Amino acid sequence: MKEKVLSMLKESGGYVSGQELCERLGVSRTAVWKAVNALKESGYEIESVRNRGYKLKDSPDVLLAEELHSLLKTEWFGRDILYFETVDSTNNEIKRQAEHGGREGLLAIAESQSAGRGRHGRMWQSPAGSGIWMSFLLRPDIMPEQAAGITLVAAMGVTAAVREELGLPAQIKWPNDIVVNGRKLTGILVELSTDMECINYVAVGIGINVNNDSFPDEIRDKATSLFAECRHKVSRSRIVASFGKHFERCYKIFMEDKDMRRLRVEYESALVNRNSEVIIIDADAEKRRKALGISDSGELIVEDADGNTENIRAGEVSVRGVYGYT
Ligand code: BTN
Repeated sequence: MKEKVLSMLKESGGYVSGQELCERLGVSRTAVWKAVNALKESGYEIESVRNRGYKLKDSPDVLLAEELHSLLKTEWFGRDILYFETVDSTNNEIKRQAEHGGREGLLAIAESQSAGRGRHGRMWQSPAGSGIWMSFLLRPDIMPEQAAGITLVAAMGVTAAVREELGLPAQIKWPNDIVVNGRKLTGILVELSTDMECINYVAVGIGINVNNDSFPDEIRDKATSLFAECRHKVSRSRIVASFGKHFERCYKIFMEDKDMRRLRVEYESALVNRNSEVIIIDADAEKRRKALGISDSGELIVEDADGNTENIRAGEVSVRGVYGYT
């Protein structure tokens, strides 16, 4: 009920009478009044004026399910939402839910994580209230080796959302870090549960630094946040909603082809490494190459000084710029 009242107030932008809310929602005046009070308790500023009705004056920066549902324009992303004040890791939560029959698109989102995880076994700092720490569940009918593209598609969703909402020049550091002005804004951790040749489920975890105004010493030089880049507080729920829309758009195309062929041009247009020198680091060597773009399966195509090209698979190596992180 809270959700429906909120959606109607947002849609209208002005006053909505109690009568109209009751009629459209098919409930009593008391039910509407209770829903309005519950919204106020969650931090929404709602004005009630006799003979005119209710008007939404301000929304708090919350990631509650009702706020997200009122903004999401998706078919399946975020149909089900689990909100946590704190959780160990939203990726862990999605895995637990997946084992108990969670539906595709289930979104777990937390104000803070006590054991946020990054790639390569690193920890991911997830302070309360300042970021978007979320994971969602996919059940794709593809082979495990085709799943590498999902990480790239998630990166495209974040990039498109940040550009659309804030006009910031977000770029992708292959395969899936999002950078703004050379600093890391977002990390993506995709985890697969496989059974022989098929995928049981995929947990896609995304951490976006949003309203952080400082970072711990060890990452200060290479991390950034949306606040640091645009110097104003940013609505986290709008970024999530925009991400959901763009992720669904790109993922639909990816699942039709089961590869990146029709997404390549858009992905490459955001690729920070494109046509620049990168260092490819694997277990025992470092080599310097020029990054040209990506293959249909999402590998990074690099060229050596003699013009020979080679495709690099994500996960097998790490890549950094010649003069620093990008
Ligand atoms: C990276 O190392 O760059 C990936 C970081 C991924 C962090 C996100 S935050 C939400 C989700 N839950 C986790 O424990 N990790 C991911």
